[in-house]
Amino acid sequence: MKRTHLFSIFLVVVDPPYVEFFGFKERPFSLTPDENFFFPSRSHEQCLEYLGFFLRQNEPIALVYGDVGTGKTITSRKFIGSLDSERYNTALILNPILDRSELLKEILRELRISHEGDSPFREMYERLEGFLLEEHRKGKATVLLVDEAQLLSDETLDFIRVLSNFETGKEKLIQVIFFAQDDFLERIKREGMKYLAQRITVTFRLNPLARDEILPYVNHRIYKAGLTGTFRCDEGAGRVMYELSGGNPRLLNLLCDRALLLLYLQSKRRLTADVVRRAAYEPTLSHLIAESMAGSKQRVHLFYALALAIASMLFVCVRLGLIGRLLSLLSF
Ligand SMILES: Nc1ncnc2c1ncn2[C@@H]1O[C@H](COP(=O)(O)OP(=O)(O)O)[C@@H](O)[C@H]1O
Ligand SMILES: [Mg+2]
Repeated sequence: MKRTHLFSIFLVVVDPPYVEFFGFKERPFSLTPDENFFFPSRSHEQCLEYLGFFLRQNEPIALVYGDVGTGKTITSRKFIGSLDSERYNTALILNPILDRSELLKEILRELRISHEGDSPFREMYERLEGFLLEEHRKGKATVLLVDEAQLLSDETLDFIRVLSNFETGKEKLIQVIFFAQDDFLERIKREGMKYLAQRITVTFRLNPLARDEILPYVNHRIYKAGLTGTFRCDEGAGRVMYELSGGNPRLLNLLCDRALLLLYLQSKRRLTADVVRRAAYEPTLSHLIAESMAGSKQRVHLFYALALAIASMLFVCVRLGLIGRLLSLLSF
């Protein structure tokens, strides 16, 4: 198993020791797209405004696209959370590797529309149509949000296009929002996708955070994690984080998570540019974290400290070209 995979498992299973050290209630830089941590950067805020506009204008399909880790999933959740549940039904499809029938089943489940487990496609389709009409009569609109939409097959994409045609003559019965990676845009420009592309009337590219948003982002997440101890992030640390991550929130989270671990290992509470650089270039860190899954907490803490000291020494030796001398010393 690759180290990064072990690292990901660790992210889910155990809180790292710095959580207690800094007095957080939870991990501040987890990779989970938890909307309670949502930071309204200019791009994310504007995206929510576009989506609000899209719903109010009763447009058929919107597309939010962007690089991996720019915050598409967290924005979709934030958007759903911002909607008045008295006025909107929402169905969020997170994993769209489904055929037409499975997708329809998933939509019915999300909208809590009852049906027999093995109902034929036609019957499920009519149930959905009936539900949408009935809800519309009650003044309730329905929104279908599809995350990772680049994974939809051509067949299911076309099915969603057909769904977006449901209307009363005056209004759409269901509005669709795709969240997808950048290359989705190229795909729907292809010849066979013409009819779908024509229905995507609102598009928004989610951008990474701007330079001046890095520190507010870090402090926002630290605050949301319920910091009770002392913590400070230097301006210089923010500058280096921007250089290294380009403002991508996912990379920022990884970087900050490692940097907090380094601070903990040094019993320090001030995040400096130097600590961020070391967090980024310290190749053994993710391995060290993964190792902790195997041992008791205390043993692991000692292990962290020892391994980090050795790794740092090696790192310095390599930088100073002293590795040959070190090896000859060790072989004595
Ligand atoms: N605006 C934001 N506010 C707070 N955290 C964010 C924001 N955007 C992204 N993140 C964090 O960055 C990571 C990646 O976000 P995610 O929504 O999974 O990205 P994507 O779906 O575009 O790959 C998650 O940990 C998420 O919490
Ligand atoms: Mg996502």
